[in-house]
Amino acid sequence: MSFDLVLFGGTGDLAWRKLMPALFQAFRHGSLPEGGRIIGVARDELTDDQYRELIGSRFGAVEGAKRPSPEEFKRFASLLDYLRMDLSQPKDYERLAHKLRERSAERVVMYLATAPSLFTQTAQQIAAAGLNGPNTRLVLEKPLGHDLASNRAINRAVAEVLEERQIFRIDHYLGKPSVQNLFAMRFGNALFEPLWRREYIASIEITIAEEVGVEKRGSFYDQTGALRDMVQNHALQLLCAVAMEPPINAHADALRDEKLKVLRALKPWTPETLGLHAVRGQYTAGTAYGERVAGYREEPGIDPASRTETFVALRAEIANWRWAGVPFYIRTGKRLASRDARIEVNFRPTPHAIFRAPAGFANKLVINLQPKDGLELHLVAQSQSQRVSTQAGVRGGMAPLAPVQLNLDFDQRFGSERVGAYERLLLDVIEGRLNLFVRSDEQEEAWRWVEPLLEAWQTDNGPRPYAAGTWGPSASSAMIARDGNAWSEEQ
Ligand code: BG6
Repeated sequence: MSFDLVLFGGTGDLAWRKLMPALFQAFRHGSLPEGGRIIGVARDELTDDQYRELIGSRFGAVEGAKRPSPEEFKRFASLLDYLRMDLSQPKDYERLAHKLRERSAERVVMYLATAPSLFTQTAQQIAAAGLNGPNTRLVLEKPLGHDLASNRAINRAVAEVLEERQIFRIDHYLGKPSVQNLFAMRFGNALFEPLWRREYIASIEITIAEEVGVEKRGSFYDQTGALRDMVQNHALQLLCAVAMEPPINAHADALRDEKLKVLRALKPWTPETLGLHAVRGQYTAGTAYGERVAGYREEPGIDPASRTETFVALRAEIANWRWAGVPFYIRTGKRLASRDARIEVNFRPTPHAIFRAPAGFANKLVINLQPKDGLELHLVAQSQSQRVSTQAGVRGGMAPLAPVQLNLDFDQRFGSERVGAYERLLLDVIEGRLNLFVRSDEQEEAWRWVEPLLEAWQTDNGPRPYAAGTWGPSASSAMIARDGNAWSEEQ
């Protein structure tokens, strides 16, 4: 099945950091369909060979085992072409159309890895050049807009030139193997579903912690902040995956319908919950990777008086029969104590204690997303059966129970077979599978939910400081402690 993949932003950060390495892995694994061509598009004046060289030189930064040998790169590079384009110039789209007509590939993927401000114009120009036929697929990278209105404007403009089935909105978290496994755990096993509800679950914590700071993306990040960068998309998609009803089948719309229902059921913010259930922070100087690091306001490209948040903690509730009253805690931030993404499902304690369990013990299922990928089930067991006892406090002659864990490590189990997020998603676009892409109504609903926070934060006292290398401002712990709960590292 031949394809042309047109990569707008072909010399940009995303292209060389994520997309080219992912395409190369697919090529190496033999999963990239035969007869493919990848056309890098950018403003730079480059020949095809210069573009290949540029991409080749950047593979040097790719981690060892994923780096191509010179021979492998040569074969991969033969798929790469380059086209210089000024995206505001209709004549340049004519040149693209001409290039695509050379082969008339069965599938054409237009990947917009550019600034979102160019999405609308590029989509319109693609259509004006007659490139929006039924075999075209358009991939839109996040962030898709800055707020609900700008998100809608992009969605509307794109919908005028392409059908929804041709539009692939990327949220790379949905492509992570660990997130696939979350769906598999919930909907491929009968074990969890009966317990997956308010009667048995006391609370759910979703953490996406990063140790990195803003790196070289200061000017972008300062306009964006953690709520738009991580919560509106990645964290809410994880919330949907953990809270949605079982879909009727695995087709894209069945999944997306159920995710949409979760987003619609999120309790809207009130003046009271905006004050009590939302905490934002900004890192100050501290440590990361064992070294002293600068505070956010000292980073390159950041306004020294910036009010942009690098940390968010929220307490959400889903108002439906399954989840009413169960708090969902979401937190994400940069320059936190470690890189750690996980979902913790805290079960209710046993209704009647006949054993002496460790204080405060309740069962817990931890879904480790990264860097560990697997499941941990926290249970209690009898540890001292030999010394049955007359000890004080031991009920009915039984020794106290001790915490134990069942650990499942997916990296160990599936290690070499695993496919990275971008590799998986790029192959899905080429094959036309929409399951792991976000529909416009989902995205708009997520914006609708976060918007009151964005508005409230324009006029409040600004983010609370936290030292780099910690778990965020203490107000985040205080927020969850009001429910009698604690973040996992504090338990
Ligand atoms: C991106 C954000 O979407 O996700 C970045 O823009 C963030 O700020 C990144 O660092 C995190 O992705 P991952 O896959 O490294 O967890």
